[in-house]
Amino acid sequence: MTLLVTGGAGFIGSNFVLDWLDGRDERVVNLDALTYAGNLRNLASLDGDARHVFVRGDIGDRALLDRLLAEHRPRAVVHFAAESHVDRSILGPGAFIKTNIEGTYTLLEAVRTHLAALPAGEREAFRFCHVSTDEVYGSLAPDAPAFTETHPFEPNSPYSASKAASDHLVRAWHHTYGLPVLTTNCSNNYGPYHFPEKLIPLMIVNALAGKPLPIYGDGLQVRDWLYVRDHCSAIRTVLERGRVGETYNVGGWNEKPNREIVLTICALLDELQPSPEGPYTRLITHVKDRPGHDRRYAIDARKIERELGWRPAETFDSGIRKTVAWYLANGDWVREVQSGGYRDWVQANYAQRAATA
Ligand code: NAD
Ligand code: TYD
Repeated sequence: MTLLVTGGAGFIGSNFVLDWLDGRDERVVNLDALTYAGNLRNLASLDGDARHVFVRGDIGDRALLDRLLAEHRPRAVVHFAAESHVDRSILGPGAFIKTNIEGTYTLLEAVRTHLAALPAGEREAFRFCHVSTDEVYGSLAPDAPAFTETHPFEPNSPYSASKAASDHLVRAWHHTYGLPVLTTNCSNNYGPYHFPEKLIPLMIVNALAGKPLPIYGDGLQVRDWLYVRDHCSAIRTVLERGRVGETYNVGGWNEKPNREIVLTICALLDELQPSPEGPYTRLITHVKDRPGHDRRYAIDARKIERELGWRPAETFDSGIRKTVAWYLANGDWVREVQSGGYRDWVQANYAQRAATA
């Protein structure tokens, strides 16, 4: 048995592959273009392991997809590959349209053609698991109920619009062509191997380097945080037991304003690696807000719990402590990802955000 994973060298994908192969013999074919966000170092512990077949390639390459599907005959596709950072989508939306929309379309078409030629039993057992985000639902008012699976799609950034489009394609390929799809819409993840352009890892690595901690706007925007390995366990659960054609919201029941996240990180660093210069909160800087910044996300994860029995294992306190400890123990990984390309990004994103406080 084989699983085809796309984007398995990125943050969530690499955690998923590592967890999958921890105690399972089922092979993973990992297709990843190794963009700036993909990092084979995340998978270094699998070097020489025959259960992991890494293929560098683009989900928009139809000939490559046809070859991989024919050669490996996976029983499922788990589709992580995407451009994933909202701020990058604001400065350059083209790559998001290409990978998230056109790439997903190409993958769906390749799978559709492949399935048509399979014997009925194999076709019926096949699953296409599309990994998406809560950002497709848009922004919530402070007292509004959390997003359920029937909440309307109201994406506000090029990133979320491109993911919403991909969710619609996946849905349509199910209803029109009978593709056996499952979709997950998950809240913000955090944990090991998180690229330090996103809030939590950026704040950890900046604090350790004595650099400013740039909070956008008033810092009262709310996100619903989930430890990445809990997201991976939710995807495994949906893959094994989810009802074909359904979507499942995945979240950690952990709504927190950004400012509180930054204060928590500072407090943990003060405890685990105190700075001779004084408390890390001295580095907090309020900077110009993100255009179209969604005010609040919150996930109602009752459907996946009720139907499939999934719940997160980590609390925010336990997960954030593990995460900070991981970054402290993995300075080499951080130094490697902060290469020239990373410096160019930091320059492009933060140069236009003069401090406001
Ligand atoms: P990431 O940016 O860390 O990783 C994306 C991976 O996809 C990288 O390894 C990259 O090289 C690869 N990739 C990009 N374009 C590709 C292409 N054209 N062909 C093949 N590979 C390509 O992203 P992530 O945070 O791990 O997110 C993974 C998925 O989960 C995405 O679909 C994202 O929308 C979704 N998601 C993320 C979060 C989150 O908080 N990070 C939350 C919910 C859903
Ligand atoms: P991010 O990690 O980019 O995830 P998303 O935008 O997909 O939710 O950002 C999380 C929140 O943190 C979001 O409200 C924007 C905010 N943020 C900052 O305040 N400063 C930063 O430097 C970054 C990267 C994000």
